[in-house]
Amino acid sequence: MFSFTLFILLAYLLTYLLYVVATQEIHLDKDIPAIHVPINHNASVKCCFSGGGEVNVSWAVYKVHNRTSSYTNLNNKALKNSSNGIVCHNHALNWVQLNDTGLYLCNLLRKGEELKTHGTYLHVYRPIEKFLPISESAKNNILTMEGVLLLLSVLIPGICQLAKAKTQNNLDRKRVKEEENLYEGLNLDECNSTYHQIQRSQRQGPYQDVGCLIDEDIQLEKP
Ligand SMILES: *[C@@H]1O[C@H](CO)[C@@H](O)[C@H](O)[C@H]1NC(C)=O
Ligand SMILES: *[C@@H]1O[C@H](CO)[C@@H](O)[C@H](O)[C@H]1NC(C)=O
Ligand SMILES: *[C@@H]1O[C@H](CO)[C@@H](O)[C@H](O)[C@H]1NC(C)=O
Ligand SMILES: *[C@@H]1O[C@H](CO)[C@@H](O)[C@H](O)[C@H]1NC(C)=O
Ligand SMILES: *[C@@H]1O[C@H](CO)[C@@H](O)[C@H](O)[C@H]1NC(C)=O
Ligand SMILES: *[C@@H]1O[C@H](CO)[C@@H](O)[C@H](O)[C@H]1NC(C)=O
Repeated sequence: MFSFTLFILLAYLLTYLLYVVATQEIHLDKDIPAIHVPINHNASVKCCFSGGGEVNVSWAVYKVHNRTSSYTNLNNKALKNSSNGIVCHNHALNWVQLNDTGLYLCNLLRKGEELKTHGTYLHVYRPIEKFLPISESAKNNILTMEGVLLLLSVLIPGICQLAKAKTQNNLDRKRVKEEENLYEGLNLDECNSTYHQIQRSQRQGPYQDVGCLIDEDIQLEKP
């Protein structure tokens, strides 16, 4: 009688233990809260858990668009791998677009019991674009212009200096000439003066110096 009661108790215990093992709690592994992926890149989200026996896993995504949220089941085959009793299901997204942004999570289904993982928020972003929308050729032109300006900024003061020196030189020469003319009591512009004519007629004498006649259109007097 006593042994029978013990047997029943043991049987209950065994059944209970089997039940506990079979309906083992699912332990959700930590999810990566969020990933940030630039547009047109590949992304991968995963959900990991341990225990639970036979569990059906499917991916779903929450999206907020146009002030309305949507929940979509993803039918893609999830890649599964496991180690140390931890099972991970990966969901890959190729060439992500801005509208792929959303919270990706796993539905764990086991004998009518459903469990959702915390999920990973996938944020697809557009990398910061150029500050100014300038084409490459325009950029090159700007660089060339910069070079030319730089060259000019070096050349212009030099040219100015040269011009200044030349002007000074001319002024000096002019002053010397004017001084010579002053000795003759004449203006530089009044070349057709009586003085010149007198000088000319003197030079046209019989003993004139031929070397001094350059630039002077003087007809030699015929005897
Ligand atoms: C994304 O994945 C596809 C196929 O797996 C591959 O052809 C492509 O090069 C990948 N793109 C990037 C940006 O890694
Ligand atoms: C946003 O939603 C409103 C109504 O819910 C709709 O009329 C509108 O066309 C939507 N806009 C876009 C860009 O989907
Ligand atoms: C599953 O594979 C991914 C890479 O594909 C790796 O990052 C992850 O750690 C693996 N999970 C387990 C439990 O081995
Ligand atoms: C997401 O955007 C791409 C283009 O940016 C478009 O081709 C695709 O149909 C969109 N998908 C959804 C679900 O709206
Ligand atoms: C898991 O999925 C398979 C088919 O996809 C189905 O036959 C099975 O009943 C599912 N198991 C649970 C526990 O939902
Ligand atoms: C110079 O003087 C001569 C005669 O005195 C005159 O014929 C000639 O036109 C004058 N030339 C000028 C440029 O004034």
